[in-house]
Amino acid sequence: MENEPHASLGPLLFLLGRWEGAGVGGYPTIEGFRFGQEISFSHNGKPYLIYSSRTWLLDDAGNIGRPLAMESGFWRPQPGNQLEVLLAHPTGFVEVYLGEISGTKIEMATDAVVRTSSAKEVTAGRRLYGMIQADLGYAYEMAAVGQPLQAHLSAQLKRAGSADDTGAGGTGGERAGGDGGGAGGTGDERAGGDGVSPGSAASEGAGGDGGTG
Ligand code: HEM
Repeated sequence: MENEPHASLGPLLFLLGRWEGAGVGGYPTIEGFRFGQEISFSHNGKPYLIYSSRTWLLDDAGNIGRPLAMESGFWRPQPGNQLEVLLAHPTGFVEVYLGEISGTKIEMATDAVVRTSSAKEVTAGRRLYGMIQADLGYAYEMAAVGQPLQAHLSAQLKRAGSADDTGAGGTGGERAGGDGGGAGGTGDERAGGDGVSPGSAASEGAGGDGGTG
């Protein structure tokens, strides 16, 4: 982007750019799974980050499978290291998060989840993002389909590509509060670096999204 990042983005500059990696997921009502993920944070000079994420299934050998969840939205830092995040999902949800930025650790919880009448019942979410050395890790917990808030996903992503549009603020390897990402104790099963770059796997509208995650 041609513009300088808006001054209010200072606390979030470490996120700017593209991230790729893999994670694991599960829930009491579904089979565990591994997934690949690509996240992008960019800006256009305005006081928010533009966020998008897409994911795909990985098999045990790390081969790329069907597309899984996507989400996109805006991260709006506020004074005092507060954060507002708006996320829309193709599965019929919109989440509004309120959070706090502490160095390179970000914790947020839903203030509201709105869903269409055809969407599954998701009532709350909680996310923890943090730098794990130079990687971006996160954990996501949800309350859904009658279950209390608990782990659905965790993943660890590496900075990808040329940081083309980013200015790559602060990849400086600062260590977050250490607990970013690893929730659920799933960290060992991270798929290797193969799981990234699905090529065409993300072709729009592919089936299999199943109306879920
Ligand atoms: C990295 C992002 C995500 C991935 C890879 C993912 C993956 C999955 C998978 C594989 C399933 C099993 C059903 C299926 O095969 O489609 C699932 C179920 C589900 N996911 Fe996700 N998910 C993600 C994010 C989310 C988010 C953000 C939400 C809520 C806003 C969500 C809500 C659900 C719900 C409600 C179910 C159904 C549970 C049930 O019916 O028992 N997922 N997810």
